[in-house]
Amino acid sequence: MSKKNIAIIFGGASSEHEVSRRSASCIIENINREKYNVILIGITKSGKWYLCNGNIKSIINGSWENRHDNLPAFISPDTSTQGIIVLKDDNYSIIKVDAVIPVLHGKNGEDGTIQGLLQLAKIPFVGCDLLSSATCMDKIDTNIILTHCGIQKAKFTYTTAFDFNKDKELCIEAIETNIGNYPMFVKPSSAGSSVGVSKANNRSELIDAIKIAIKEDSRVLIEENIEGQEVECAILGNDNPISSIVGEIAPSNEFYDYEAKYQSENSKLYIPAHIDSQVSKNLREIAIKAYKAMGCSGLSRVDFFIQKETNNILLNEINTFPGFTSISMYPKLFGASGIDCTTLIDNLINLALERTL
Ligand SMILES: Nc1ncnc2c1ncn2[C@@H]1O[C@H](COP(=O)(O)OP(=O)(O)O)[C@@H](O)[C@H]1O
Ligand SMILES: [Mg+2]
Repeated sequence: MSKKNIAIIFGGASSEHEVSRRSASCIIENINREKYNVILIGITKSGKWYLCNGNIKSIINGSWENRHDNLPAFISPDTSTQGIIVLKDDNYSIIKVDAVIPVLHGKNGEDGTIQGLLQLAKIPFVGCDLLSSATCMDKIDTNIILTHCGIQKAKFTYTTAFDFNKDKELCIEAIETNIGNYPMFVKPSSAGSSVGVSKANNRSELIDAIKIAIKEDSRVLIEENIEGQEVECAILGNDNPISSIVGEIAPSNEFYDYEAKYQSENSKLYIPAHIDSQVSKNLREIAIKAYKAMGCSGLSRVDFFIQKETNNILLNEINTFPGFTSISMYPKLFGASGIDCTTLIDNLINLALERTL
């Protein structure tokens, strides 16, 4: 069988650009080279696309951007191209691709934008499609859809920059009426890596928290504060997905903020999570139900809280292209479930090729 051409897209105009470079490095290192030729496309933080010849080290540290042999390259939306257009001087060439792995986190990558382009181009790609990527990226939409499907969530409400700026008093009163007690969690509806997320302990902190959140997105989600464990379940598959065992995160800070996620050495992952087997079984079923309700395919990581005392399972969010670094929960959870990283990537590519766009 001839080798398939797989394009790995990394970086991106996103606040999670650096994490994407590390996730891509893990995939580049572990993809089966006997089955796949790998083509690398790097997107800079400002949104420039290049065919990248850099090695893994230069991708991790970002120095690939300074290479003189970087050529502008992009996916053609034209279905007859089925690949990447590479520009050199006044000429262009085409590299055909069999599938794309958009290893992009957050805005402009995990939110349906790239997925839409690949759907237009009719090029198979790993992960959720346009609609499920876009709705999972938006926390308000996710909450509305999942609540409608009977999946338990923290009590929530939402506001917009426009309403908040028009009448702060009215806006705050409505939030207090809907949520009840402080503390509350305030989040930009569409963001990631805890950017713009704050815990508000009183009215004046709530006002500050909304001001912070609206810098990231004009739509803002407000939730009751949940006391409990944070646990995560990895899902793999299209119409008949499987769930991994459940992992737990123990943030080093008061909550899992940016520092605790990426900078602190003190945040811990436990695989399996410290939860009893019945809770784990129920949670895995809920994770699959939510994955299907959102129309996910390929992969996602479904994040939950297990509430103290009651052991209530509350869904927090779904990440359609979760961190895929060597120390990330997603590959680790499947590793612990008996699927090594090379097999996992192979499965993901097969799922992409199987799906009809
Ligand atoms: N309702 C909540 N109650 C308690 N903690 C929360 C709540 N919502 C979020 N958090 C904390 O904030 C972190 C980031 O929020 P999350 O919704 O996961 O956003 P992101 O997409 O940025 O990861 C979570 O990992 C958790 O530690
Ligand atoms: Mg999260």
